Parts: sequence; structure tokens; C-alpha cells
Amino acid sequence: MKRFHISISVGDYAAAVAEYSARLGCEPCVTKQGRYALWRTELLNFSISHKAEQPAGMVRHIGFEDNAESGFREEKDGVGIIWEYFSAEAQAKEIEDKIPDAVTVVQPKPIKASGAEVIFRFLETSDVGAFRALRLRGLKEEPSAFLECYEDALERPADAYLSYFNNGRIAGAFVDNALVGMVALFPMRGAKLRHKATIGGVYVAPEARGRGIARRLMIMVNHEAQEMGLEQLQLSTNTLNRVTITLYESLGFARSGREPHILKLADGSYVDDITMVKFLKPGS
Ligand SMILES: CC(C)(COP(=O)(O)OP(=O)(O)OC[C@H]1O[C@@H](n2cnc3c(N)ncnc32)[C@H](O)[C@@H]1OP(=O)(O)O)[C@@H](O)C(=O)NCCC(=O)NCCS
Repeated sequence: MKRFHISISVGDYAAAVAEYSARLGCEPCVTKQGRYALWRTELLNFSISHKAEQPAGMVRHIGFEDNAESGFREEKDGVGIIWEYFSAEAQAKEIEDKIPDAVTVVQPKPIKASGAEVIFRFLETSDVGAFRALRLRGLKEEPSAFLECYEDALERPADAYLSYFNNGRIAGAFVDNALVGMVALFPMRGAKLRHKATIGGVYVAPEARGRGIARRLMIMVNHEAQEMGLEQLQLSTNTLNRVTITLYESLGFARSGREPHILKLADGSYVDDITMVKFLKPGS
């Protein structure tokens, strides 16, 4: 079995992981946060590398993963491109030697990619109008999922949401240039709290659900938090929301407590929240 190998350099590691996971239809099988990721599909052995001194968007080397190869060898072609030839085992050994703390996932999760193409990127201040529109839709349709109330949010002009962009990072998913999903990351302030961040505003429009969009957005903000050097992520979710509890637990969040009656809805019913935490660094 042969897989074509391409290795490229990237600038924004987290955005590149999100983009290539979506394009290749699976999550990486090896990652080193902020530095390296490798995907193996039926046809491709594809890796990205981020180094401050390395210009982004360059081909670093190409070649073949080929189990007929006995080890790891490389040669330069007439154009000056380096070709590498290796077995899967030899590549794993090479990664272990060069990046000893890289994380290997035995069975990377496939990304559901049916339907129109989804573009993932962090929102910019020019997206604030689209952000507000999707936020309002979420608040109206899912009142038990968010602390903010639709009627209060209606009063807030788009500019009032700019503080979200200044205080955090919002990962967005776009289909046909329309924002259909978002997840916000808010690092905490203050000397005793700034090792942590809150994740909130998790929402995917109903027509875009079930395609792995929320999972990808969560992975984007998780990578971003690691890039920022944060140690801990916190979030909370309605105790009855099986979808989010399953999603967050599958991404490494653990239950840390419960907030009874966190919300009182218009019909007089109460909502309890589960609080969850994910530690990003060993021993943190
Ligand atoms: C929760 C929400 C963001 C999920 O968005 P999504 O893009 O459909 O989710 P994904 O397709 O990425 O699915 C992620 C995981 O959620 C779980 N999940 C998704 N749909 C599910 C369903 N119908 N039943 C059970 N679990 C489900 C699964 O674990 C899934 O992972 P898997 O398919 O790889 O096993 C979306 O349903 C939503 O916006 N809900 C309303 C708002 C909300 O509850 N926000 C959260 C506030 S804390």
C-alpha cells in the first residue's frame, strides 16, 4: 500500500488543523500542539509544520509512505524538491525521535463532510452583523441553552457585541458565505484567573447540524487555547442536553459540578447546568 506524502509549512496552526481536517475528511492521527500534525487517508500521508522561522504555504517535502520500504530515506530531485520514502513504522519512529511529546491517535475520527462545503475560520470584527443574527436565532430557538435572553439581546445593536471580539476568539463555520455555527473562547482576566478560559455561545443552525460542525469548532478553540498557553477550559451545559454532554465528554471535558436552577424560563420552569472542565497541560 502506497500513500503519497506531502509536507507543508503553515502560519496559523489551529486554523490549518481545522481546514485540513475538513478538507481531508478526518482528524489528524498525530499532533504536537502549535507545531506539527499528520493525517493519513486512503491515498495521502499529509503533514503540516509550524515554525516561527519558516514561511507559510511552502512545500517542505513530498514522497511516498510505502510499506515496501525498509526504513527512511530521502533524495533531492532535479528541481530541488526533497522526496522522502518511508514505511509507516519508520515515519512513526522518526516523529517519536524528533517530536517526543507528539500525541498519536490510533483511530482518528472521520469528519462528516456531506452536503455543501463548510469553511471554518475565526471571526473578524467585520463579521459582527452575522454573529448577532446567528446569536439571536440561537437565543430565540433554544432559550434553555443560553444564559442571555432573546428579548434582552434584541435591544443590543451589533456594535455592542464587539467586546466579544476584543475579549476573546470566536470560531465560525460558513456555508455559502453564511455563518451557520460558532463557538466562543473567552480567556479570563486577572493574575489569578488568566490560566483559564470559558467556552460559550456554542450554536449550530438546525439545517447544518449533524455534520461534525460543532466538533470542529470546539477543536479549533481548543487548539487556540493551547496556542495561548492556557491551562484550563471551562464550560457549562443544560443537564438535559444529551447532545452537548456527549460532545464535550468525547472531547475530554469532565463534569466538575452542578448549578441548580441556573435559569428560570418564561414558562416558570427551571434549568440546571452541569459545569465541565478540561485540563490542557499535565499537572495543571
Ligand atoms: C449542540 C450543537 C452545537 C451540536 O452541533 P452539531 O454541529 O450538530 O454537532 P456535531 O455534528 O459536531 O456532533 C458532535 C457530537 O454531538 C453529539 N451529537 C450530535 N447530534 C446528536 C444527536 N442528535 N443525538 C445525540 N448526540 C448527538 C455526538 O456525540 C456528536 O459526535 P459524533 O457524531 O462524532 O459522535 C447543536 O445541536 C446546537 O446548536 N444545539 C442548540 C444550542 C445548544 O444546545 N448549544 C450548546 C449550549 S452549551
